[in-house]
Amino acid sequence: MNGLKEETPRDRLWDNWNSRGGPRYPNEKVVQFTFRHFPASARASTRTLDLGCGSGINSWFLAREGFPVVGTDISSIGLANAGDLLGNADLAGSFVAADAWAQPFPDASFDYILCIRMLELLPEPTQQEELVAECARLLRAGGRAMFLFASPLDYGCQHPEMSYCRFYPPSEQRVAELFGGRFSQVDIDIYQTTYENRKFAEHNFLITTQK
Ligand SMILES: C[S@@+](CC[C@H](N)C(=O)[O-])C[C@H]1O[C@@H](n2cnc3c(N)ncnc32)[C@H](O)[C@@H]1O
Repeated sequence: MNGLKEETPRDRLWDNWNSRGGPRYPNEKVVQFTFRHFPASARASTRTLDLGCGSGINSWFLAREGFPVVGTDISSIGLANAGDLLGNADLAGSFVAADAWAQPFPDASFDYILCIRMLELLPEPTQQEELVAECARLLRAGGRAMFLFASPLDYGCQHPEMSYCRFYPPSEQRVAELFGGRFSQVDIDIYQTTYENRKFAEHNFLITTQK
């Protein structure tokens, strides 16, 4: 139960997912993008938001690298795990319950936003639109954001064993519509990796933006 509203099957799904602790290591694309764009000397003044932070592994990475971090999620278990992960490592960070499309912060509150494996979970196209609009609103001019989410070719969208967790991946054309016109720079890339002789493909859109 996240305190925002009555618990729904969707909340339970994500509480269950987070009760397994989430990934143990930060996402490699987050690591690459962060090191590429934020020199160590700039990190203490780079306000970061990990939107859909889950159990906080990417927040942990950012805090460890010296960034001030806020994480938001709908899963109370995820938020508690994230607080513990940073707290147990003596790192600072605050974790707040919020729906993706309604972040409780003023305009231009952040210099760097991460949204990792979350956009594809929002069932309504309008929610996906509002999420991207929220990120544009929250970024200061010149700030950067990174979004990683499943494409329709991802195994999670194609394999029956993943049907417990529905994905709503946007098409490439829809991605261009979602991100177009909100940022001064948008790069739309694909991040793909395969397993077991290509039986499974993780096939993600990797969107990096600058406002
Ligand atoms: C696949 S996990 C990814 C977590 C984290 N970003 C990571 O990379 O480890 C997706 C997260 O999105 C959260 N989530 C799902 N729907 C959401 C919504 N409507 N608003 C905010 N968070 C949501 C879930 O609770 C879950 O923690």
